[in-house]
Amino acid sequence: MSDEIKVFCPATIANISCGFDVLGVALDAVGDEMTVRKTSEKGIRITKIDGQELPMATLKNVAGVAGLAFLAASDYKGGFEIEIYKKIKAGSGIGSSAASSTGAVWAMNELLDKPFSTLELVQFSMEGERLASGVAHADNVAPALFGGFTLVRSYKPLDIIPIPSPNELYATIIHPQIEVKTSDSRKILKTTISLSDGIKQWGNVGGLIAALFTNDYDLIGRSLEDHIVEPIRSILIPAFDDVKKTAIQSGALGCGISGSGPSIFAFSKGLEIAEKVEQAMKEIYKNIGIDYDIHVSKVNLEGVRKI
Ligand code: HSE
Repeated sequence: MSDEIKVFCPATIANISCGFDVLGVALDAVGDEMTVRKTSEKGIRITKIDGQELPMATLKNVAGVAGLAFLAASDYKGGFEIEIYKKIKAGSGIGSSAASSTGAVWAMNELLDKPFSTLELVQFSMEGERLASGVAHADNVAPALFGGFTLVRSYKPLDIIPIPSPNELYATIIHPQIEVKTSDSRKILKTTISLSDGIKQWGNVGGLIAALFTNDYDLIGRSLEDHIVEPIRSILIPAFDDVKKTAIQSGALGCGISGSGPSIFAFSKGLEIAEKVEQAMKEIYKNIGIDYDIHVSKVNLEGVRKI
């Protein structure tokens, strides 16, 4: 058994419009890399962070905190060193913190010959999300670990349902270069919803799940509606309404905020349409002089993996 492993940790789209805190999907085209090494010294040490300014102190880093949760539940007497190669920008809305925390615990589990189930790894990773956003939500970490789409059916007890993904489904994700902290974009949300909004929202969640099981692309599009969170958070995102309108006019099935934003995602059937949507989204930000990153990605069915 090796003492060192290098892993790819996928970016994720959480919420997927209608499923605030319960739906997520892993992406193929963008993710972080990490090297994790066993040490005889106890505890977790972050020895390198490349690509971004993030805290190296174990208790202030999501990978460190998730790693400590793993160690606390394990019989292992040693520790781990972690090198993080960040490709996902913090505060971009595509699961930057989830990539780091899931990559760390998945790698540790491999190095110890898999003492924990994927569900247990989700629970450890959620401690990273608690540090990053104040709430231990699972809608990014679950797809990062299981791969594909996941539904958090329940938090207490934690019940994660992996959902199949239609073969020709592509995501286009644009990140206007502003940072929105998840903790801030959660604070502006209302804590209660009306019954009529609830009815629309759970209709769409059910519709989206049914569509993913039956490869019904039109139903995916019809279900990508958010009556609760998007109207509030979209105000923080430059030209959100224009980007959404243009994406749909260019053939996207639907479009919404990725996670807590500011990234915007669109789903399309087939690569050709996803690339057309990419061009159209770019034009909007070019015209108003906002820098952006953009990715076109297939769904990542595997989750975190060894590289
Ligand atoms: N469900 C979380 C939120 C995801 O929207 O706040 C954060 O990435």
